[in-house]
Amino acid sequence: MNRDAADRILSGVQRQLWVLTSASGERRGGLIATFVCRASIVKAMPRVLVSLSIRHHSTNLVRESGAFALHLLTDQDCDLVWRFGLVSGREIDKLAGLEVRGSVTGSPVLSRSAAWLDCRVETSMDTGDREVFLAEVVEASAGSDVVPLTVDEVLAKAPADKVARMDELFAQDAAVDSRLIEAFRCR
Ligand SMILES: Cc1cc2nc3c(=O)[nH]c(=O)nc-3n(C[C@H](O)[C@H](O)[C@H](O)COP(=O)(O)O)c2cc1C
Repeated sequence: MNRDAADRILSGVQRQLWVLTSASGERRGGLIATFVCRASIVKAMPRVLVSLSIRHHSTNLVRESGAFALHLLTDQDCDLVWRFGLVSGREIDKLAGLEVRGSVTGSPVLSRSAAWLDCRVETSMDTGDREVFLAEVVEASAGSDVVPLTVDEVLAKAPADKVARMDELFAQDAAVDSRLIEAFRCR
């Protein structure tokens, strides 16, 4: 298998950045996600797919609550990438200091977000390293001029220490994920 070619193809696709938030009881949290896509062409029945690492704090919250909110980021939101994407919410409340409001599903919605979806999980699939959730969109809000922020754009503006930390975390996660995928294939 030509791994470099596969990586070039998959890395060349523009990926939008989202903040996923979720809450279960008193606990709440969120993470940066890029594995998010539309999963229905029926306008009256919007659905999304999200793929979350089984090891993340937010994934547990989604499993427990059966719900999450997705916020599309814009170029005003680079600070949220570092807040939600580089540390685990197991030890800290990543939403502290941010204005949030309630939602139909009970997931915390970031008040500053111009484009968000409130989602209820319909089913999920275990892929070894990830849990892939299919969810119904039960509420949505969209500003008229929202331009989604992509991974390439945020990397172009990011301070060197943030890029270095992101690379370090991705390398650590990839090492663990490769073992989980191997174990999954041997089941
Ligand atoms: C650019 C970027 C994209 C990411 N995409 C995903 C993703 O699609 N799915 C995922 O599970 N984690 C993704 N992550 C990693 C999580 O956002 C990160 O590990 C987070 O700190 C997990 O937080 P938690 O443990 O509080 O849930 C991404 C991180 C970055 C910086």
